[in-house]
Amino acid sequence: MIVAIDGPSGTGKSSTSKAVAAQLGLSYLDTGAQYRAITWWMLNNGVDVADPDAIAAAAGKPSIVSGTDPLAPAISADGVDASGPIRTQEVTAAVSAVSAVPEVRERITELQRTIAAEARGGIVVEGRDIGTTVLPDADLKVFLTASPEARAARRNGELKAADGKPVSDLAATQQALTARDKADSSRKTSPLKKADDAVEVDTTELTLEQVVECVVTLVEKAA
Ligand code: C5P
Repeated sequence: MIVAIDGPSGTGKSSTSKAVAAQLGLSYLDTGAQYRAITWWMLNNGVDVADPDAIAAAAGKPSIVSGTDPLAPAISADGVDASGPIRTQEVTAAVSAVSAVPEVRERITELQRTIAAEARGGIVVEGRDIGTTVLPDADLKVFLTASPEARAARRNGELKAADGKPVSDLAATQQALTARDKADSSRKTSPLKKADDAVEVDTTELTLEQVVECVVTLVEKAA
């Protein structure tokens, strides 16, 4: 059972994917974390992330290793745990530019396909291009959406939870999310896009539990 969950930032992809995988005993892969980890490595290793040629030249250098346990997802770059640092503003601001470079996408896509092929019993893979490019034969494809306001409010909640400080500027968060979506949707290589055969779920008015229940039902139907 291969489940692809795509959609823009702040639609609840990660929380939903982890909960669905845990509930159904499936593995879990956060592909955004892989793009973040390679971005983090580049920032730490003097790669100019404004230069696509420099990014392309460095794309094959770090080893990126992802854990697939939905209860304890792990990610490392060259053997260093990157789970914390990949969530910083600095990485978030640079990740769209790095992930738009075809050499980066080729490398990470290959990694994702290998992990999905090796997952025993099935896997939930979340990202932007899983249903369209990485795993076009997935048994179920879900595309999550939500209003920009709901997405910004959720992201602010996460930021608050991460560093304990309140994040008050909702408008700035919404603007940053919209800019990242625009970059991710307009890039040439495998842009963020709903697959023709994906089921779209608008999560604006739904609780996490309701979204999880909806996706679990879809998986059971697809099995
Ligand atoms: O999901 P998350 O917000 O962590 O993803 C970070 C970034 O990684 C996205 O904004 C996008 O640029 C990139 N990404 C991608 N393809 C994926 C997953 C993430 O390009 N499948």
